Amino acid sequence: MGTSGTPFIALLEPTALPWERHSPPDEQPHAASIPRTFIDAMKVRTEVFVQEQQIPQENEFDSDDARCAHWVIYASVNKTVQPAVTDPATGEILRPRQSETQSLPIGTLRLVPFPHAPHPVNGGVYVDEKLVSVSSESSTASTTVATSTAAATASEVTESKEPAPIPPKPTFAPDRPTAFHDGIEPYVKLGRLAVLREFRGRGIAAQLVHAALDWIRTHPDYFDPSPTERGFEQLGMEQPGSAAAGVPATPPKWNGLVCCHAQEGAVKAWKRCGFQVDEGMGKWFEEGIPHVGMFLRVEVDRSVKKV
Ligand SMILES: CC(C)(COP(=O)(O)OP(=O)(O)OC[C@H]1O[C@@H](n2cnc3c(N)ncnc32)[C@H](O)[C@@H]1OP(=O)(O)O)[C@@H](O)C(=O)NCCC(=O)NCCS
Repeated sequence: MGTSGTPFIALLEPTALPWERHSPPDEQPHAASIPRTFIDAMKVRTEVFVQEQQIPQENEFDSDDARCAHWVIYASVNKTVQPAVTDPATGEILRPRQSETQSLPIGTLRLVPFPHAPHPVNGGVYVDEKLVSVSSESSTASTTVATSTAAATASEVTESKEPAPIPPKPTFAPDRPTAFHDGIEPYVKLGRLAVLREFRGRGIAAQLVHAALDWIRTHPDYFDPSPTERGFEQLGMEQPGSAAAGVPATPPKWNGLVCCHAQEGAVKAWKRCGFQVDEGMGKWFEEGIPHVGMFLRVEVDRSVKKV
């Protein structure tokens, strides 16, 4: 399989996604109602996170996907559809090799707007977005966490036959302060960065991250929430006296802060794009994979209007 040409990057803006969590991308029952770009994103995510990293298929699509912007990078791939036919006696080519060029999705990335769930707990063990225990690095002991929903263990969650209900969108709430985040400031989050194994080591991840950063830098108000979002008042952002007067809180503005929850193995790739590890966020485990928090601040350009 050969590749040619400049990779092409597609953007899918937030949209309803009737995704069936247990089914792989090729077997989605409502495929006709799902944008091609998202199916391609899920093809890459399934190959990388489900097949390669052994994350359960049903945990790959989550509550954030429908409110995210997604980027997918495609390579032009030249595939042989029929090999050449030669005369065995003379070696003469009777029919030349037939090939066709296809656009193959090779990498993806998504951007989650605010609000977000609280920063993960240091040492936390998360399965399908739920905190199931807290482990200490210095000892092998781990404490099972009784959440308000249920005290679920990792095996209970992964072995469950019923698809877990997708959690509701988080509301604005003050978070714990970390090295780069005061716990209040709105930030957007990049995630689900994945590049197919055979295309790694060629800077594809950086192309995706830069495409997303360029876009959000020039669309800073794109994800500014409407005043009907719940929870602003908890951030202390309302006008003085507004609560008493019944005036809605002032919606927060995004000032260029970007976060990512990086797999430890991917920290170097994120650093290459300008992200710095936030030591105050500690380290936690998502689907068994160690993660750290990283931040970057981009300079926003409010002169470009959203179309
Ligand atoms: C992390 C990931 C997105 C990086 O993508 P990429 O386009 O290969 O990024 P880069 O080109 O910057 O290369 C990253 C590293 O892989 C190395 N690399 C080179 N060839 C490689 C190959 N064939 N396979 C794997 N890694 C390779 C590069 O040398 C580089 O190493 P370094 O960080 O030690 O310098 C990709 O490795 C991936 O999809 N990994 C699995 C999923 C994952 O971990 N996602 C991150 C979630 S936060």
